[in-house]
Amino acid sequence: MLGNFSYKNATKLYFGDDSLKYLNEELKQYGKNVQLIYGGGSIKKNGIYDSVVEILKANGKNIVEDGGVMPNPTLEKLYEGAKIAKENHVDFILAVGGGSVCDYAKAVAVSAHCDEDPWDKYYIRFEEPSCEIIPVGCVLTMAGTGSEMNGGAVITNHKAKLKVGHVFGEEVMPKFSILNPKFTMSLPKKQMIAGIYDIFSHICEQYFSGEDDNTSDYLAEALMKSVIHSSLIAIDNSQDYEARSNIMWSATWALNTLISMGKTTDWMVHMLGHSVGAYTDAIHGMSLAAVSIPYYRYIMPYGLKKFVRFAKEVWGVNPDGKSDEETANEGLSKMEEWMKKLGVTMKISELGVTEEMIEKIADGTMILNGGYKQLTRDEIIAILKESL
Ligand code: NZQ
Ligand code: ZN
Repeated sequence: MLGNFSYKNATKLYFGDDSLKYLNEELKQYGKNVQLIYGGGSIKKNGIYDSVVEILKANGKNIVEDGGVMPNPTLEKLYEGAKIAKENHVDFILAVGGGSVCDYAKAVAVSAHCDEDPWDKYYIRFEEPSCEIIPVGCVLTMAGTGSEMNGGAVITNHKAKLKVGHVFGEEVMPKFSILNPKFTMSLPKKQMIAGIYDIFSHICEQYFSGEDDNTSDYLAEALMKSVIHSSLIAIDNSQDYEARSNIMWSATWALNTLISMGKTTDWMVHMLGHSVGAYTDAIHGMSLAAVSIPYYRYIMPYGLKKFVRFAKEVWGVNPDGKSDEETANEGLSKMEEWMKKLGVTMKISELGVTEEMIEKIADGTMILNGGYKQLTRDEIIAILKESL
């Protein structure tokens, strides 16, 4: 039976190859001081920075620069960004970049006027903001995380060796996001495929839970099929606008909370991937890919019915003459084949994990219980060893 829920998505989207022009309208609603947040410099190379700055200046904004956000943004950088926002009386934050930049912008938005330590408050105690929140808008340059239309803000604390996500409420979600598929065309292939796998993983994390007949699962299957189809076009021709548009749009829908409605959701691949990331600083999508197949093969018997459905509906496996286990395994083999065709990382050893690190990575893995099997520490160790 479909669980009870309320649903609202607070982010307005502008999609398409002319969507940046809508930044003009949106900016009119906010004050003069704009913190312009971006990453390591890709937007300066591909011209997006110049276009955005031109619009900010045309609207009379005072630009407060905050560049250099690293992939997997760190707690130190968050402290720095919060200080910049507070000292410059920032009225509005504009994030121009991928998930790291958008996540960081949201974290800065709730930390600038917060008297407590943001790590303790948001990432240890998981409290909601009790201070003024600076409004955020995003210009997205990488498809994958869904950060453009959700409240997620993942921060890495290297000292504590923890990578933790807080999913904030609608008041922290971007007020608007601008999605121009052309902006993603300059992504290196490795980042493009990591983003594609991240999208697929988000859908799986929500799909592999529950036994009921739920509309969300049918939506998830449609999204998975679209991602697989477009990914195969994009790996051959990364400049295919139609494929890149569909990938960008699927990414947003994969994690804007719609397909989690009425579902308990799993998220253990992300918990394993985040802990691997805390030790290796791996590309997010690759950290997920490297643990996925061992994880799904392990939990498959506990959610057999759904894995059979996945095989049939998503991968077109013909179940005739096969046991349910055989059908389910064939589905996972097809998924593995697709991942290899994409070129994602299939082993955590390729990300720098060694056998000696496994127990610590297991200890840093948050154990959730929305999926088909609540893992024990020993089971996590076994899955990580299988992923080596
Ligand atoms: O820093 P720059 O120079 O911009 O380069 C970035 C970065 O090196 C580059 N890039 C982005 N757009 C580009 C481009 N290079 C050329 N052309 C472009 N158009 O790509 C690299 C990776 O960018 P990043 O933002 O780190 O990637 P992604 O979008 O995958 O974000 C990863 C972060 O998001 C978190 C991850 O844990 C990680 O910290 N997540 C956020 C989620 C959420 N908000 O809901 C959910 C996800 O599961 C995930 O955990
Ligand atoms: Zn992800």
